[in-house]
Amino acid sequence: MADKTIKLKCDEIPDGGAKVVVVNDRLKIAVFRVGDKCAAINNRCPHAGGSLGEGAFDGTMVQCPLHGFKVDVWKGVGNAGKPVQKFPVEIKGNELKITIPAG
Ligand code: FES
Repeated sequence: MADKTIKLKCDEIPDGGAKVVVVNDRLKIAVFRVGDKCAAINNRCPHAGGSLGEGAFDGTMVQCPLHGFKVDVWKGVGNAGKPVQKFPVEIKGNELKITIPAG
């Protein structure tokens, strides 16, 4: 199966906020934006499945709205070094391309 590409407009994502995008039945991603920088991570909180894209975001860390698990969205690392899946993002002007690896 080939990689999948998600295309968005940067201005669809609130500056200093996030947008949750449904990729398929099993995957949603949370896309965060600060100015002209964006990061995409798996929306599913590794603790118990909360929606990270709906958590409080301070520009670096997002806090899961369910029980407070924190993730550095730029590094894809959560509390106690727990990895959170991060997806490659390419930005050209207002176009944002996110690559979802096959499999
Ligand atoms: S589900 Fe995210 S902290 Fe519990």
